[in-house]
Amino acid sequence: MNDFRPGLEGVIAFQTEIAEPDRDGGALRYRGVDIEELVGTVPYEKVWGLLVDENLEPGMPDPEPYDPASLTGKAPADLQSETARLSAVWDLQKLVDIDDEQAHDDLARLSAQMMSVVAKSAAVHDGREPAPDDVVAQGRTAAEKFLLRWRGEADPKHVKAIDTYWICTAEHGLNASTFTARITASTGADCGAAMSAAVGALSGPLHGGAPARVLPMLDEVASTGNPEGYVRDLLNRHGRIMGFGHRVYRAEDPRSRVLKRTAKELGSPRVEVAEALEEAALAALRERKPDYVIATNVEFYSAVVLDVAEVPPDLTPAMFACARVAGWAAHILEEKRTGRLIRPSAQYIGPSSRSLSAV
Ligand code: ACO
Repeated sequence: MNDFRPGLEGVIAFQTEIAEPDRDGGALRYRGVDIEELVGTVPYEKVWGLLVDENLEPGMPDPEPYDPASLTGKAPADLQSETARLSAVWDLQKLVDIDDEQAHDDLARLSAQMMSVVAKSAAVHDGREPAPDDVVAQGRTAAEKFLLRWRGEADPKHVKAIDTYWICTAEHGLNASTFTARITASTGADCGAAMSAAVGALSGPLHGGAPARVLPMLDEVASTGNPEGYVRDLLNRHGRIMGFGHRVYRAEDPRSRVLKRTAKELGSPRVEVAEALEEAALAALRERKPDYVIATNVEFYSAVVLDVAEVPPDLTPAMFACARVAGWAAHILEEKRTGRLIRPSAQYIGPSSRSLSAV
């Protein structure tokens, strides 16, 4: 086998009709619709409908009453374990044993509940009780309800920040967590297993955890006032500048564009230092990697927008998971329809045949 590609880069594993990241044009379309047209026009839960059902209506439902087993206040670990637990509590059936309609209903219930679990975990993190259902019911959108459940109140600026962030990050074709969701679904496992597996894959800083590391960077640059020096020191230590680089885009990440605009519209006090760091990072990366385009990715301005909504950095991977329930649900359904087990191969490069005594 001589076509091994480290990290599966450029390997086409699926055909999909869900999202199209336009590599060179710097655009992202959900079922053909540019995210620029969605943000501010429809709320996240309708975008869930577009991605999963190719129809804004009815969209993602409200979560049903449910008491998580025991939340630690550490999301996304709470989210991952609770999502797996829901398979048992709701007696979710294996994907191989149910029809598409049932799988869709399971995914809709799970998506809504996963958001609710994150809001409750965030409340525990803050040392408060999640708001009761009658308070949450006063919210008009999923983002507003999320904030009400978490904090008992929903500042309109915070709602806009979270809704925009969720729409921008709802789906992005194939990536580590979506691949994980599809692999799990391809074995015929239930939807809770597929969704919880995806949460685990998303929790790492190279995928969904980068915003948590962006704010400390901004704090440090704000305190020294020296973005060039910060970037130089980090790169000299062979560190990675969080929020830069992307496996797919070789142009500006369109989500970064929308989020930067939103951060400005919402009056984020961090925009100035973020722009200074961005400028220094892009210049240094261009100089050190002239043949490899490393641009601002979605996570850089996500951190700034989520900061407007006062989302603490350690909660940002779980916020990303909330957004991505739409993409995962759509891909799990698409995978179910293919009915084909995903089973790649590995090229063995270990020792040749030998006896145990040689070890
Ligand atoms: N800072 C410094 N150097 C970088 C960065 C960065 N942010 N990104 C890539 N490079 C360098 C690498 O060190 C490597 O250099 P080398 O060849 O001298 O070892 C070279 O560019 C290629 O790196 P790869 O990891 O092979 O590039 P790839 O395009 O596959 O990486 C990735 C994509 C993993 C996102 C990378 O750019 C990165 O680690 N970025 C920082 C973390 C981050 O922002 N993650 C969020 C991604 S967006 C998302 O998941 C939704």
